[in-house]
Amino acid sequence: HLKLIVGRLQSKVALVTGGGRGIGRSIVEAFVREGAAVAVLDRPGEFAADQFVGSLKGTGAHAVALEADVADDEAVAGAVAAALAEFGRIDVLVNNAGFSQRKPFVELTLADWDNIMSVNLRGVFLVTHHVVPAMLHAAQGRIINIASQMGQLGAAQLTHYCASKAGVIGFTKALARELAPDITVNAIAPGPILTDMTKGREPGWYEQIESELPLNRLGLPEEVAPSAVFLASDDGALFTGQTLGPNSGHVML
Ligand code: NAI
Repeated sequence: HLKLIVGRLQSKVALVTGGGRGIGRSIVEAFVREGAAVAVLDRPGEFAADQFVGSLKGTGAHAVALEADVADDEAVAGAVAAALAEFGRIDVLVNNAGFSQRKPFVELTLADWDNIMSVNLRGVFLVTHHVVPAMLHAAQGRIINIASQMGQLGAAQLTHYCASKAGVIGFTKALARELAPDITVNAIAPGPILTDMTKGREPGWYEQIESELPLNRLGLPEEVAPSAVFLASDDGALFTGQTLGPNSGHVML
């Protein structure tokens, strides 16, 4: 019998960090289209997230905006508690919040290093640490960490960023082994994607990077989101500890 077509994330609850714009926002939109209820976490003052959640609610979606800096333990605890109070559970966690900074290694300060690590790596630890008890209680869950191909490839002037993203991949594999079989943990390591993070680069950068990509073009945020939908849905049930690479062919593993 043909089943009625329903969303692949029908009746799922997801928490997406950095969900106000860029890749996170595209993941939230794709999750909502697949029928999920979504908590959109972004840092205080990122008003785009509030407006975005307002527009989602306008379409009838069950969505809530949460304010927290992912590097702040107390703020994260409060936001996760608020999500659990609103939805009763969290089935899918997407650790997407992160940022990048280019600087020659010799000019890198300890503060630069700590800032990147506190958001890109400690942030992933903190949010996951606050969400996992509820997933263990439910004996199910999907954790999806947005790493970067930079964590696989390395790049000049991005030592701290590359270290943080390689850290996310290591964290993903270790936690996947520890939380199996009820909870799966996977990473997505996108190649260059057109977002605020990559906009405004120097003239010639796009042509240069595109000439290095087998598919000859940067990706769009909405081309990363399907990997997250896949990992969150029943289709991704056999995947854990993996790193998917929507990267225009830049890294081939
Ligand atoms: P973006 O800068 O457009 O969006 C990042 C989002 O995270 C924003 O909504 C921002 O407010 C939020 N955020 C940043 N710091 C936060 C904090 N401390 N607490 C809570 N929220 C915070 O960036 P984009 O490009 O969408 O990046 C998303 C993720 O994808 C990042 O982890 C990034 O490292 C990764 N990535 C991006 C690539 C690209 O080419 N754009 C390539 C590979 C990975």
